[in-house]
Amino acid sequence: MKKCLILFMALMVFACQGAFAAPFDDDGLLRLVNRDEKITKKYVPADLVKPDVPTNKKSQQESIFMRAEAARALEEMFAAAKAEKGYNLLAVSGYRAFGLQQVMFNNKVKAVGSKEKAWRKVAPAGASEHQLGLAQDVICDTYRYLNNGFADTDEGKWLYANCHRFGFIVRYLKEWESITGYAAEPWHFRYLGVNHAAAVHWLNIPYETYAHQAMELPEFVQVKGNAYLLYGVMDNALNGDGCLFEEICNAACDTEAQQMAVIEEMTVYFLPEGISLSQALSGEVH
Ligand code: DAL
Ligand code: ZN
Repeated sequence: MKKCLILFMALMVFACQGAFAAPFDDDGLLRLVNRDEKITKKYVPADLVKPDVPTNKKSQQESIFMRAEAARALEEMFAAAKAEKGYNLLAVSGYRAFGLQQVMFNNKVKAVGSKEKAWRKVAPAGASEHQLGLAQDVICDTYRYLNNGFADTDEGKWLYANCHRFGFIVRYLKEWESITGYAAEPWHFRYLGVNHAAAVHWLNIPYETYAHQAMELPEFVQVKGNAYLLYGVMDNALNGDGCLFEEICNAACDTEAQQMAVIEEMTVYFLPEGISLSQALSGEVH
């Protein structure tokens, strides 16, 4: 009896830390947060850590925390930028608590004169994905400003073209403003995991559009789908006739073996030239 209780409590702790979170739940990597889909005041990620990366100012080391998986991915991205190109990326702002976001939003309202103007630049409290611990603002040593000029730097261009390899997307582009509600932010990176980030990058669509459609996928596809499969079925749903998307939604998949068989069969439809099935299944992205 005592053993059962201990096991139950251990399972609860594990579950509360998000280990069993569905992808679009608060603790899931795909949680969409914006002004329409807010996160509660009390939400704080359980696994925040400080990524081992340089910051723009030393004091910002206390402002760059992220959830553990996202922090490791950020470190890899910074290391790759250095190793492949010699770029020195700098982190600026990661996890922000509800209260901090509230202060930032109120300061912006004071600075620009109205809530409507502030809304284009800063999310109100509860509406920022910085509260998820899955976002990081990034600049570089040759351009230390959070403004549109960062998009024209070599570092900004490299990040735009490569961040999906590490599981990140550029969340706010100018052409998406009517959907995201925010002006361009070439410095704001959102972690989704490599498979979904690559699919969003190749589709070249705002995360709102991707997430609302991907929510309809069976959970095993959301969790285990590789980048090529996700790109293919989402492209089919958003730009095609939707029949392959329907097919995967209706596939029989009671056991893990059946799920993997469905994933393999459907991935074959979407393999680009030069990528083998085993490469696709192993999580490789180009
Ligand atoms: N600047 C982005 C939208 C945020 O405040 O989350
Ligand atoms: Zn940001």
